[in-house]
Amino acid sequence: MELNVVILAAGKGTRMKSVLPKVMQPLAGRPLLRHVVDTAKALSAARTLVVYGHGGDLVQRAFASESLLWAEQAEQKGTGHAVQMALPQLPATGRTLILYGDVPLTTTSTLGRLIERVASDAAMGLITLVMDNPAGYGRIVRDAGGDVVRIVEQKDASDDEKKIREVNTGIFCVPNVLLHKWLPALQNNNAQGEYYLTDIIAMAAAENVRIETVQPEQSWEVDGINDKLQLSALERVHQRVLADSLMRGGVTLIDPARLDIRGSVTHGMDVHIEPNVILEGRVVLGNNVRIGANCQLKDCEIGDNVVIKPNSLIDDARVGAGAEIGPFARLRPGTVLAENVHIGNFVETKKAVIGKGSKANHLAYLGDAEIGSGVNIGAGTITCNYDGVNKHLTTIGDNAFIGTNTSLIAPVVVGAGATTGAGSAISKDVPDNTLAVARGKQVVIESWQRPVKK
Ligand code: UD1
Ligand code: CA
Repeated sequence: MELNVVILAAGKGTRMKSVLPKVMQPLAGRPLLRHVVDTAKALSAARTLVVYGHGGDLVQRAFASESLLWAEQAEQKGTGHAVQMALPQLPATGRTLILYGDVPLTTTSTLGRLIERVASDAAMGLITLVMDNPAGYGRIVRDAGGDVVRIVEQKDASDDEKKIREVNTGIFCVPNVLLHKWLPALQNNNAQGEYYLTDIIAMAAAENVRIETVQPEQSWEVDGINDKLQLSALERVHQRVLADSLMRGGVTLIDPARLDIRGSVTHGMDVHIEPNVILEGRVVLGNNVRIGANCQLKDCEIGDNVVIKPNSLIDDARVGAGAEIGPFARLRPGTVLAENVHIGNFVETKKAVIGKGSKANHLAYLGDAEIGSGVNIGAGTITCNYDGVNKHLTTIGDNAFIGTNTSLIAPVVVGAGATTGAGSAISKDVPDNTLAVARGKQVVIESWQRPVKK
């Protein structure tokens, strides 16, 4: 049976106290809704439909590149009403999994177990959870034989029903024929005056449709987010899961509670990560990579045996094997370092391609630069790449030696084996194997007297 996914995301999220719609709040660096949309993709859903309400424009723009279907629920009249809004876009056959934009971490393995129980129009399924404190949730009412007969919401429950500890997570899988039949029949004669999706359970029981229940492997899989406290609690749970998976893969984490992953990390053997590191986007770490404290790495590939010393920032860069970065280095987009390059403290690179074994050990800016191998960049060297309007290229040949405090006024070429004198402002090309000195000549005044205090 074809699988459809409907994601309910019309809630206002008032308790977030934010201009951002609730489902756009980030967990592990990605909007809550992004996690759910990715889950739908991982389940190979034939179509995924998002029911939106508040901040719909913003949400739709953020997901414009996805082939999602959208249904507006202008007024929130309950979960049943929300799924009704999706009905016109749901085919007559197949089955539909109902997920929530604010329940981001349900695993595909748990959902897979639910879906496989709904293999014909004779069964529907839902995820339930047994809780120590079920207050606030819809309760699962079972008959003497243990079969589910209905769900009763907290506000409609009798004192006895309130003692039931098995609750509804809200995640349902229902054959489309049954949704088309049952949803239009929902009534709102209940304590909240809402159209409850949960009322379809009693309809299923009345029609002898088998009601399957599945429990999540971990309770956090069905945790919903309503405020910033719950958001941060789930963030920590999720980060711990990600850290555990790195450690299982052989990564040494000095403190798994002080690593943040906001994207995907692939790694080789013997990677070692000190505290307070943030990994964002797509990060690829080779074998034996060492990352010091307080580093932030985003969208980068780091080769084998690279050492990244504390307080370094790397964004959209490739670092070759054996390189040494930092402390306090900043590699900006377009930085490509060959093997064994050294980028030391307070060195900033941007669109800089640097060859094997070259070194910029202290205090330099290398922007829009093509630098050969075996080059030594002295402290204080600046590529003057910007004339206020355009960016220009600095090219430095193999084995050049750039003296301390050289200003390289681009466009300019320093040849292979060339040397620039310390303090030079190099505005003309320097031929191979020559020395260029471009600075005021030193004058020594022997008869000079220091002023004396009057
Ligand atoms: C619902 C269930 C309850 C379950 C609980 C789990 C119903 C009637 N009750 O409770 O049995 O234990 O979830 O958290 O289904 N939404 C819309 N449009 C609406 C109403 C809700 O899109 O008109 C969305 C919300 O954005 C939210 C989700 O549906 O993501 C659940 O709504 P919420 O009000 O939090 O659930 P409850 O009614 O408390
Ligand atoms: Ca509600």
